[in-house]
Amino acid sequence: MRNTIIIFGVLYLWIAFRLSYNEAIEFKFTNAICESYNESWFIIHKCRLKAVNRTVNTMNVNGTILHPAYRIGVQLQMFKRANGYKPWLFNIHLDACRFIKTQYNPFAKIVFGLFKEFSNINHSCPYVGHQIVEGFYLRPKSLPHAIPSGNYLLSMTWYFDNRPQFITKLYFIYMEDL
Ligand SMILES: *[C@@H]1O[C@H](CO)[C@@H](O)[C@H](O)[C@H]1NC(C)=O
Ligand SMILES: *[C@@H]1O[C@H](CO)[C@@H](O)[C@H](O)[C@H]1NC(C)=O
Ligand SMILES: *[C@@H]1O[C@H](CO)[C@@H](O)[C@H](O)[C@H]1NC(C)=O
Ligand SMILES: *[C@@H]1O[C@H](CO)[C@@H](O)[C@H](O)[C@H]1NC(C)=O
Repeated sequence: MRNTIIIFGVLYLWIAFRLSYNEAIEFKFTNAICESYNESWFIIHKCRLKAVNRTVNTMNVNGTILHPAYRIGVQLQMFKRANGYKPWLFNIHLDACRFIKTQYNPFAKIVFGLFKEFSNINHSCPYVGHQIVEGFYLRPKSLPHAIPSGNYLLSMTWYFDNRPQFITKLYFIYMEDL
């Protein structure tokens, strides 16, 4: 009985260790695509990845909202690659003005937590002028859980006044070196 407990204890510790991000992990952007659907409201000046070193690619976005946006929505969808990109884990529509105040959705909270410190978008509505994401890179420590190894796409379609204005697509790889 005692030995069984010890064996399970060791097994538990081993699994906890495996999940604790001490492993060499690849977690980085592989591509970024931004597209405006309405250049009389949102202009994209820059949407680019920059290779910093072997493990880090930063994402850099610079866009301008030409008129104040008071009603902002975002469709946030994850895909995982398996013979093409298949929907994975979540597909949610958020009221961005409500979210920025209350962080009411747990998935969006994780996504926002990954990049808010690299951007100037942490303020309440309305939004107007330069929108910047600079030097944004992915860190495994910002995720509450490990995710399965693979290639992913996070697609965000941004709505002003209930109409799609632009889309940002972030492709990334997550690889655990088991
Ligand atoms: C495009 O932007 C203009 C200027 O802000 C706005 O008046 C118009 O309604 C927008 N069109 C669509 C389809 O959202
Ligand atoms: C890569 O760049 C990041 C961000 O500047 C840095 O934290 C990390 O230590 C670098 N890794 C290597 C292997 O140089
Ligand atoms: C963003 O782009 C605009 C227009 O090209 C430029 O004036 C501004 O300096 C850029 N801002 C940053 C932080 O890159
Ligand atoms: C900006 O982020 C900080 C830290 O997460 C948060 O406490 C604060 O309420 C945010 N500010 C706004 C205006 O959303």
